[in-house]
Amino acid sequence: MNALLYLFTLYILECVGLRDLKIHVPVAVRSGSILRMNCTYDLENTALYSIKWYLRDQEFYRYVPKESPPTRVFPMPGIIVNVQESDENRVTIVNVQRELTGYYKCEVSADAPLFHTGIKTKLTYVTNEPSFPPTLHANRMKYSSGDLINVSCIAGESYPAVNISWFLNNQTAENMKSVRIKTTFEHKVSELVIMRSYLITRASTLLFPTGRIKVMCEISQFDLYKMSSYLELVDNAPPKSAQVIAPSLSPHSTGKAPRLQNWTSIMFIMLFIANTKFL
Ligand SMILES: *[C@@H]1O[C@H](CO)[C@@H](O)[C@H](O)[C@H]1NC(C)=O
Ligand SMILES: *[C@@H]1O[C@H](CO)[C@@H](O)[C@H](O)[C@H]1NC(C)=O
Ligand SMILES: *[C@@H]1O[C@H](CO)[C@@H](O)[C@H](O)[C@H]1NC(C)=O
Ligand SMILES: *[C@@H]1O[C@H](CO)[C@@H](O)[C@H](O)[C@H]1NC(C)=O
Ligand SMILES: *[C@@H]1O[C@H](CO)[C@@H](O)[C@H](O)[C@H]1NC(C)=O
Repeated sequence: MNALLYLFTLYILECVGLRDLKIHVPVAVRSGSILRMNCTYDLENTALYSIKWYLRDQEFYRYVPKESPPTRVFPMPGIIVNVQESDENRVTIVNVQRELTGYYKCEVSADAPLFHTGIKTKLTYVTNEPSFPPTLHANRMKYSSGDLINVSCIAGESYPAVNISWFLNNQTAENMKSVRIKTTFEHKVSELVIMRSYLITRASTLLFPTGRIKVMCEISQFDLYKMSSYLELVDNAPPKSAQVIAPSLSPHSTGKAPRLQNWTSIMFIMLFIANTKFL
């Protein structure tokens, strides 16, 4: 009977304590910005004993309501806590740099008698975005059917590595048959990365239904950064219906065969940079 009572008491005590502990940390923030995090929890009928915040298992902030002052900040390189915007749920770090990328952890403890403790962890990135739009380069700008097309897209130094997507005439190229995409990266000092991607295919009438093809490379980092550049490749084949008879400029040319306009020399190469910046 005593044992049953004991179990029952334990059960009651289990019901009071800590529930629904959730950590809210952004997936990524830009370097130089403010990192706002919080942990929400339901202590049911118990009081909060403490909340502690860690980066990579090193504590940098603690809030204990019973202490005066309740807030304690532990020095850690790169971490500047805005105490006014930190409390029993929130912690706010200003001017974050990429070294503060890592796993953040909040540890919440309920007060006596059981000091129920819960821990939640989440990864956040502090990003450095490339300082210029992606650079595109094609092995040649005019193609005849069967020619190898090799377009490179290079993204400037970033942290972490950008994602690269290719589009041909506005359609995603990744799943296209006959298109091969090869992406490589190179590490620079302090974890900065340079990404390079090559789109390789062969010119065909399928690719050049209108005589030209728009090749676009888009680079992105989470929902913080997105930039694209594109160039247009032209079909070198003499366009059958485009051989226009130009009016003669010479007053003495009557009776002579009108000359054919050299459309090849008019064909031009366009390189556009389309910059779209989000947020
Ligand atoms: C915690 O953060 C989330 C997401 O940023 C936000 O929606 C929520 O209001 C915050 N809660 C508290 C108590 O600050
Ligand atoms: C594409 O061009 C790059 C250099 O611009 C070269 O290293 C690579 O081998 C080329 N790929 C093919 C399949 O020709
Ligand atoms: C691609 O999209 C742009 C803007 O939405 C449009 O102006 C252009 O005509 C499209 N190009 C092709 C080849 O579909
Ligand atoms: C790259 O794309 C993957 C898949 O969509 C995503 O999980 C990842 O967060 C992206 N990385 C960056 C740096 O945007
Ligand atoms: C047409 O223009 C191209 C490129 O400018 C040039 O190489 C070619 O010799 C020209 N052809 C004639 C017939 O003028």
